[in-house]
Amino acid sequence: MSHDPEPLTARLRLDRKLLPRRLLVVSNRLPYQIRIAGDEVTLERGLGGLVTAMDPVMRSTGGLWFGWTGSHHPVPSSIQVAERMGGGVSYELRPLELSQTEVSRYYLGYANKAIWPLFHYFQEHCEFNDEDWESYCSVNRKFASKVVSEYRDGDYVWIHDYHLMLVPAMIRRDLPDADIGFFLHIPFPPPELFQIAHNADDIIEGLLGADLIGFHTPSNARNFVRTVATMTELPYSVSGGWLRKDGRRVKVGDFPISIDCDHFERMASRPGIDDEVRAIRDNYRAEVLAIGVDRLDYTKGILKRLNAIEIMLARHPDIQGKFTFIQLSAPSRTKVSAYRSLRGKIEQMVGHINGRFGGKGCLPVDYRYEGHAQEELVAYYRAADAALVTPLRDGMNLVAKEYVISQIDGNGCLVLSQFAGASRELTHAIQVNPYHAESLAEGIYRAITMSVTERRSRMARMRQIVRNNDINWWVEHFLRAQRDAVRHRDNQPQ
Ligand code: G6P
Repeated sequence: MSHDPEPLTARLRLDRKLLPRRLLVVSNRLPYQIRIAGDEVTLERGLGGLVTAMDPVMRSTGGLWFGWTGSHHPVPSSIQVAERMGGGVSYELRPLELSQTEVSRYYLGYANKAIWPLFHYFQEHCEFNDEDWESYCSVNRKFASKVVSEYRDGDYVWIHDYHLMLVPAMIRRDLPDADIGFFLHIPFPPPELFQIAHNADDIIEGLLGADLIGFHTPSNARNFVRTVATMTELPYSVSGGWLRKDGRRVKVGDFPISIDCDHFERMASRPGIDDEVRAIRDNYRAEVLAIGVDRLDYTKGILKRLNAIEIMLARHPDIQGKFTFIQLSAPSRTKVSAYRSLRGKIEQMVGHINGRFGGKGCLPVDYRYEGHAQEELVAYYRAADAALVTPLRDGMNLVAKEYVISQIDGNGCLVLSQFAGASRELTHAIQVNPYHAESLAEGIYRAITMSVTERRSRMARMRQIVRNNDINWWVEHFLRAQRDAVRHRDNQPQ
C-alpha cells in the first residue's frame, strides 16, 4: 500500500509549548481524496482554504483528522499521511462514510443550499427544509460520536467550518472537560440575516459547546456575539470577546487565516519554474496577463469580474489585443443547481467577450474549467501581471495571499474585493467594490497600467504583511487563545 500525496512541506516552526498532546482535527471533508486501485492507495489534495491552511499544520503536529471521504467507495479505517521531508511527523486520516441520502441532504442540502448562501449574504439562494436539517443533525452526531470514541485525555479537539456547527456541544455533552475549539472558515452574517435560518437557536447552542470560537475578522466575531446577544439572555462582553454558557466562559475572537509562506516561496523558486513561466507567457502572446483562480462558486464574483473586463476593454481600446485574462475555475458542488447554472452563464459570457474583442492572435479571456495543483498555480501566479480576486463575499480568500507570496521578484499587482476577509490585511492592494461594474473595470485598468515603482512598493508592503502573519502565526495565535480560554473557563465575569 502506498500513500502518495504531493511533495510535502517542511515542518512549520511552531512553539512546541503550545501544542496539545494530540490534535484531533474534525472537518466535513478529509484533506485528501483517497483513491484505491488494488493494493495501491493514492492521496490527492482537496480544494479550498481549509485544506491549504490545515494540512501543513497537521504535517507539523501529527494527530488525527476526521472527515468524509468524499466518495461512496469503502476505504481503510485509518490512513497515514506520510512525512517525506524529514522529521518523521505524520498524521492519520480517520475516514467517515456518508450515505447517498446524507450527501444529498446534509452536505449538498443543509450545508450548501442553506448555510453557505446565507452566511455569504445570498439569501435568495437559500433553501431550508426539515429533512435536510434532520440529516445535518444526524451527520453532526455521527462525527461527534466518532471523535468521542477515539478521544483520550489531553487531546485537543479542533472542529472546522459550517458543516459541523453542532459538533462542539455534542462532544461537550459526552466529554464535559474536553478542550474544544471551533474555527469558521466562511463569514458569519449579522443577526438580521442569521435569524433567517429556522434552526438558528440550535446552531448557536451547538457552537457554544466550544471553549473558543474563531472567525477570520473582527466584524465576523462581532456579528456572532451580537447574534447571541440578540437571540439569548446569556451574559457577554463584546469588547472582552467572551460569552457565558452553563457556567462556562466561551471565548470569541478573530484569527485571520494564512498560508505556509516558506512552502509557497519554495514552489515559486523551484528549479525549472522560470521555463514554465516563460511558456505560459509565450502561449498567450499578450503584453499583459491577468489571472483569476477560484472554485466555480457564485460567491466568487466571476460573472461580475468578466463583465468588468468587457467594460474595461470597451473603454480602453489601447489595451485591446494586448490583454489576456486567464480564469482558472475548479469544478465545485456540481450537483447544486446554482453552481451548474453559473457555469453555463460564465461560458456564455466568455464566448461573448472573446467574440467581441478577440482576433489577431490575442484571446481576451482564456477560461478553464479544471482544478490545478499548487505547483502549477504558482507558475501562473508568477506569469500574471495582476491577479483579480474579486469575490462578492469571502471569509478570507487565500488565493490573494498565495499570489502575493508567489511574487518573489516583487512584481505583480493585486486587485482585491473589499468584501474578502483578506482586504483587512492587504490594504496595499487595489481594493474594489465588485458590485460596482465601472469602478471594478477601472480598478483592473489601474492595476495593469500602474507604474513599476508603485507596483513594486505596494507588493513589498503586502509581502511583508503576509510573511509576518503566516500560517505559523495563525496556529499559534489560535492555540494561545485556546490555552487562555481553558484557563479562564470557570472564571466569573468581572
Ligand atoms: C470552502 C469551505 C471548505 C470546503 C471548500 C471546498 O473553502 O470553507 O470547508 O472544504 O470550500 O468545498 P467542498 O464543498 O468541495 O468541500
